[in-house]
Amino acid sequence: MSRYSLTFRLALLFASLSFVVLATVGIALYRGLEAQLILRDDAALVTRVDHIRILLQDADVLELIRDKPHIFENMLGNNEALLQLKFAGKAPLIEVNPGHVRIPELIPVSAGKALSLTAVHHTQEADGTPFIAVAASARTMDPQRDLIIVSGRQMTERTRLLAAYRDQILLFAFGAAVLIALAAFLLVRRALGPLRRLAAETDSINIKNLSSRIDNSGMPDELAPLVDSFNAMLDRLVTGFAQLSQVSADMAHDLRTPIGNLLGQTEVALNQRRGVEYYEKLLGSNFEELQRLSKMTDNMLFLARAENAETAIDRKILNVFDELQRIGDYFEGLATERDLRLTISGNGTVLADPMLLQRAMANLIANAIRYADPDTDILLVSEQHRGGTTLTVENCGPTIEEAHLTRIFDRFYRADAARRGSAEASGLGLSIVRSIMMLHHGSYKVTSREGKTRFTLEFPLKASK
Ligand SMILES: Nc1ncnc2c1ncn2[C@@H]1O[C@H](COP(=O)(O)OP(=O)(O)OP(=O)(O)O)[C@@H](O)[C@H]1O
Ligand SMILES: [Mg+2]
Repeated sequence: MSRYSLTFRLALLFASLSFVVLATVGIALYRGLEAQLILRDDAALVTRVDHIRILLQDADVLELIRDKPHIFENMLGNNEALLQLKFAGKAPLIEVNPGHVRIPELIPVSAGKALSLTAVHHTQEADGTPFIAVAASARTMDPQRDLIIVSGRQMTERTRLLAAYRDQILLFAFGAAVLIALAAFLLVRRALGPLRRLAAETDSINIKNLSSRIDNSGMPDELAPLVDSFNAMLDRLVTGFAQLSQVSADMAHDLRTPIGNLLGQTEVALNQRRGVEYYEKLLGSNFEELQRLSKMTDNMLFLARAENAETAIDRKILNVFDELQRIGDYFEGLATERDLRLTISGNGTVLADPMLLQRAMANLIANAIRYADPDTDILLVSEQHRGGTTLTVENCGPTIEEAHLTRIFDRFYRADAARRGSAEASGLGLSIVRSIMMLHHGSYKVTSREGKTRFTLEFPLKASK
């Protein structure tokens, strides 16, 4: 792709177009003029021959030709003209041929016949100059013998005139094209001013001033939608960037606690010699912190992969009750520890990736166990309907405030960090649930009212999209 500017290309286009248009008009005019001139010259030649014909009817003329041929020689008064008078088969009585043109052998128009333009014979000389000639017989006083008149004309003058005219047309078309190119260049440059302003303004936007917007005033109608889309894109970028910064800030914050603990404990231990028991305890504690770190990095990695839209999942038709039972069994111990009862109900099937379904449900149940009031029931319910399957996890516990409800699915978001168990919670559980539902093209919902919190996952039946 060539890198010529739009201005240059448009100017060139205008110039070529105007040259072609003007040259075409010029050529049409040239052709018209040429046709007119040919007609005029042909008519003039025919008229001349006609005049000579009439003249020859006069009795004295023949004698005059014999006696004073120079009268006829001068009659033409033009270097281009040619005249020959002769009796058939005889030497010419008069021959005027200043241009030394080879006189063509023509069949003369018979004496009784009127001359018309069709009598004009058109040829070209060796150098391309057009030559016209007319031959006609004329009656003389001698009824036995007709005189043959041959008259012609070299079109040198006309050719020169037409050539000059043609050159002028080309020069004019070329000059006009250059002027139009210049004008187009300046106009297009001017018209593209807003585009340059747009480029300059876009150029000045960077990560530090993402909040600045491109000024739409004075933009032409064609560019206004572009500016609007650009500004809308900046809005999206600002939101995305803020989310990303928040995620990194939260991640750093969450990493700081376990790493700080590890450092602190190890430093204290290294300060002096300790007993075996102390080291065992330290290692145990460090192990827990490292587990937290490992879980967090695992979750982060999972989220990063899941958010890649191309991630493939392995959907299968699963028996919901069996799946819930399996997860329930896994959490049974933890629930009993906190005096909680897991109740499973529902049947039917669900179309889902078994690993991911387990993981989503495990995150919801882990939350339910963590946040439920002791000695309450945790309900795991499945319902099948025409469009798909709904899985619900419900627990009795603190109501989540409305303001938090929309945000708890965000990464690292915790409704109340000071809440019980928050030391182990990283705030990633629900964002993983959200990603899993996205991968299944399903939906998720949470309601929290009067001490009852219910999370609902909707798995579509068809693996559409
Ligand atoms: N069943 C629930 N009852 C009350 N609050 C809940 C419940 N489930 C989630 N939450 C709130 O939503 C927040 C986000 O939950 P999420 O599962 O994403 O993170 P977490 O449980 O804090 O940490 P993680 O799951 O990563 O260990 C929780 O911190 C809590 O405030
Ligand atoms: Mg959780």
